Amino acid sequence: MRGDITTKIEKACTKLRKRFGDRTPRVGLILGSGLGSFADSLKDRVVVGYGDIPGFPTSSVKGHAGQLVLGRVGETWALVMQGRVHYYEGYEMSEVVFPTRVLVSLGCKILVITNAAGGVHADLNAGDLVVLHDHLNLMGVNPLRGDNPDGLGTRFPDMSTAYDPKLRALTKEVARAENVDLRTGVYAALSGPSYETPSEIRMLRTMGADLVGMSTVPEVIAANHMGARVVGLSCVTNLAAGISPTPLSHEEVAETAGRVEKTFVGLIGALTQRLDEVA
Ligand code: HPA
Repeated sequence: MRGDITTKIEKACTKLRKRFGDRTPRVGLILGSGLGSFADSLKDRVVVGYGDIPGFPTSSVKGHAGQLVLGRVGETWALVMQGRVHYYEGYEMSEVVFPTRVLVSLGCKILVITNAAGGVHADLNAGDLVVLHDHLNLMGVNPLRGDNPDGLGTRFPDMSTAYDPKLRALTKEVARAENVDLRTGVYAALSGPSYETPSEIRMLRTMGADLVGMSTVPEVIAANHMGARVVGLSCVTNLAAGISPTPLSHEEVAETAGRVEKTFVGLIGALTQRLDEVA
């Protein structure tokens, strides 16, 4: 996907605008493994399968529905990605971030990007919710490698505030109001799909990571590149390798995500309604 990326984005946007009419989304949400049910709570929904959107990659992972849902939360029109694709599935990075680029192009200048993650910091427990304040890109690739068409963003984008400090403060305030215990942490992204070894987890902790996962960072980089502001939220679905007394499994990840999904959905619903407070 070189050079013609802007044309591809415009094609997807044209198709989606036809479906959405004058309902312009202001907030985009990317929902991670087992966290997709927020989309079901939206009002006046318009649902479009990824397969019906030109250029959209379709996911192969269980628990990822693969549809885009436009809907209202209070007065705010939100556009929700129910499921995402991952680099480990074999997609190019340009494909992994394509939906993010479409969301931002459609008007979502704020993105809430969520994931299921392993807890690396000793104080984290399965079921904890964490707002991200930074990341470590250890995927070995960067989604911005290659052509940088004019108009998309600058060649060398700043990442000092990749996770918007004001949005993070608002997220914490909303969590307090909703009685949700929300931690703060640094997310390390590895390419996967194998989980980490105990030694890798010790390395990550030494490097300053609190959480580990296989997503989010590409989308956060692409969103920042295009000038969008990001809230990152992790659900700790398991203790990382070597901390956990049991072998890691996708079933455990899905089970924990399911257990906290209601709290998680409540938090992002309350947050989405208040995002326009932040200038
Ligand atoms: N490691 C990597 N990715 C993950 C994990 C983990 O422990 N849990 C959920 N996603």
